Amino acid sequence: MTTVPAPRKLRLGVNIDHVATVRNARGGDHPDPVRAAQQVAAVGADGITAHLREDRRHIRDDDLRRIAEATDLPLNLEMAATAEMLDIALAHRPHAVCLVPERREERTTEGGLDAAGQHNLLYPFVDRLLAAGIRVSLFIAPCERQLDAAIRLRAPVVEFHTGEYAHASPEQRAAELRRLADMAALATKNGIEPHAGHGLTYDNVQPVAAIPQLAELNIGHFLVGEAIFVGLEQAVLKMRRLMDAAR
Ligand code: PXP
Repeated sequence: MTTVPAPRKLRLGVNIDHVATVRNARGGDHPDPVRAAQQVAAVGADGITAHLREDRRHIRDDDLRRIAEATDLPLNLEMAATAEMLDIALAHRPHAVCLVPERREERTTEGGLDAAGQHNLLYPFVDRLLAAGIRVSLFIAPCERQLDAAIRLRAPVVEFHTGEYAHASPEQRAAELRRLADMAALATKNGIEPHAGHGLTYDNVQPVAAIPQLAELNIGHFLVGEAIFVGLEQAVLKMRRLMDAAR
């Protein structure tokens, strides 16, 4: 068993999907998610995250190419485990792929991947992506059953879904946070690098950022919403400051 050392700096991956959502509302090319990627790169984001959905409701295929051409930041491509997405990932070769569950009717990624129940489906995806030199993560609930499954799938990274924490009642929040902290510790003990994301805001990010084993947070919807009021750069800078202060 190899223990992953706890990272000192917590990376921030900015999910720019919702810049594309606003663009797509009118079918044109403004606001351009590539410009968003360049702006967040300029203020110290550590990566760009984008979810290429089957219905292309936000990021589209050519955005991936344009983002890669326009910034040096590593791209974390979120995608469902489908043959179409695998082909795209293998052709595009992003720095990382995060396998996520996807249902057409959902508003957002509402829960984690059932890595435990879908071992046989997921195994070839993890295997092919790793063989292509792409870092693979699995977006899972912070629970032992799913983490065990990620270990069996030989995923080097897991991203814990923080939705339950973000939406917990004040009474439940401490328990959800403990669950995240326990699972982050267990992941590193098993040689897996833990990340976290979903529903994180200025108000709830710090207790998560304080979990020492976490290496990366991926944050999107709140930052893009906040950008309407203060601009994307200021929103990212403030999130970065809060994360750093919690570390
Ligand atoms: N990480 C993953 C794997 C996601 O699918 C998403 C979007 O649902 C996020 C992080 C970012 O979540 P949010 O937009 O709520 O910040």
